[in-house]
Amino acid sequence: MSTRKDLFKKCYDFTLADEVKALGIYPFFHPIEETEGPVVSFGGRKLVMAGSNNYLGLTADDRVKNASINAINKYGTSCSGSRYMTGTVNLHIELEERLADYFEKERCLLFSTGYQTGQGIIPTIVQRGEYVVCDKDNHASLVAASIMAVGQSAKFVRYAHNSMEDLERVLQSIPEEAGILIVADGVFSVSGEIIDLPNLVEIANRYGARILLDDAHAVGVIGRDGRGTPSEFNMVDRVDMMMGTFSKTFGSLGGYVVGERDIVNYIKHNASSLIFSASPTPASVAAVLESLEILKNEPERIERLIVNTDYVRQGLDAAGFKLMPSRTAIVSVIIGDQMKTMVFWKKLFDAGVYVNAFIRPGVMPGHEALRTSFMATHEKEHLDKVITEFSTIGKELGVI
Ligand SMILES: Cc1ncc(COP(=O)(O)O)c(C=O)c1O
Repeated sequence: MSTRKDLFKKCYDFTLADEVKALGIYPFFHPIEETEGPVVSFGGRKLVMAGSNNYLGLTADDRVKNASINAINKYGTSCSGSRYMTGTVNLHIELEERLADYFEKERCLLFSTGYQTGQGIIPTIVQRGEYVVCDKDNHASLVAASIMAVGQSAKFVRYAHNSMEDLERVLQSIPEEAGILIVADGVFSVSGEIIDLPNLVEIANRYGARILLDDAHAVGVIGRDGRGTPSEFNMVDRVDMMMGTFSKTFGSLGGYVVGERDIVNYIKHNASSLIFSASPTPASVAAVLESLEILKNEPERIERLIVNTDYVRQGLDAAGFKLMPSRTAIVSVIIGDQMKTMVFWKKLFDAGVYVNAFIRPGVMPGHEALRTSFMATHEKEHLDKVITEFSTIGKELGVI
C-alpha cells in the first residue's frame, strides 16, 4: 500500500461551500429559470437583476435572438473544429472585418471566449526574457494568461493599481534589451474605475513598451458610440492592441483582439487557445453582428445605461454606502467582511434583488463587496427597488 499523500485530500478537506450552504447564505451558482433581462425568475419568484453584464439589454432583443436562430438554420449548431482547420465560416470573417472597422484598427481576430483571448495574446506575444507588466487589479484571466507566459520563461511583474508612479518604477527596473507588454483593464471589472490612459500611454512611450487594453467592461459603455477606453481619451492610435468579450455589451459569447495587421496575423498563426479550441458558434457570432449594428445605430441605449447607473450610484451614495470609484456601468458597494457580504447578499436576494457577492478569490480580504451593474433596459421602478432594499438592509446590518 502506497503512503503517498493523496492529491485529492484538498478536495475532501474543502468544506467552506457546504458550510455556507448550510447557513442558507450561499451566493453562487443559483439557476435562473427565465429571464427578460432586467427581471429574472428564481424558484418561481421574480427578482430585479442588478448584477448582469448585459449592459445594453441585448440578450433579450428579438433582432439579436432571430439573428442567432437564422445562423443555426444556415450553419448548424457548432463549427465542430478550430478556426485554424475546419471551423471558420463566413460569419467569422464578416465579424472580424466589421469589428476592425468599428474599432479603427487594421485587423481583428475572434476567440471562443474573452478568457481565451487573453490566453491567446499574452503568452504568444511575450516570450523568453520578455516582460508582461500588469495592473494589480487586472481581471483574473489576464493574470492566468501572464502566468502562462512565465511558463515560457517570460517575466511577470505587477504595479500598484492605476498608479502611474509605480508603473514607472517597474519599467525603470527592466533591462533596455527586454521587450515589454503593459496589460491593463480599460474599465476595471471589480470597481468600474477607468484606467489613467493618458499617463499610461506617455510612460509606455518613454520606455518603449507596447500596450494591451482589456476593454471588456468599456465597450458599449464609454467612448464615441461605445468604442471603449482608447476612444474615450481620443487615443485609439496610441494603444497597440485592444481586446474584449462578447459576453457583456454584445449579448453573446466569445472574444476578440484588434490591432496592426502583422501583430494580429502573428497571433492568428501562433496562439494555442485559438488553434487548439473550437471556433465561436455561428449563433454566437451572428448575435454579435446584430448587436454591433444596434450599438452603432442606437446610441441612446448607451445614454440610458449611464443615466440608469448614475441614478443608482447617487442613491446609494446618498444613503451613506461606501462605493468604489466609478462612472461606468458598475457600482460596487464596499462591505469589507466576507460573512457580512454573504448575509447582505442573501437578504437582498430574499427581498427581490440579485447582485454579485465579491469575496475571495475575486477580491482581497477586507475588500469584500456587493457589485451591482446595470442595463439600458432597466426601468426606474427597478432602480428604485435596488436603492430601497440596499438602504433597508444596510441599516439593519449596520453597514450604513
Ligand atoms: C476584464 C475581463 N476580461 C475578460 C473576461 C472574460 O470574458 P469571458 O466571460 O468572455 O470569458 C471578463 C469577464 O468576466 C472580464 O471582466
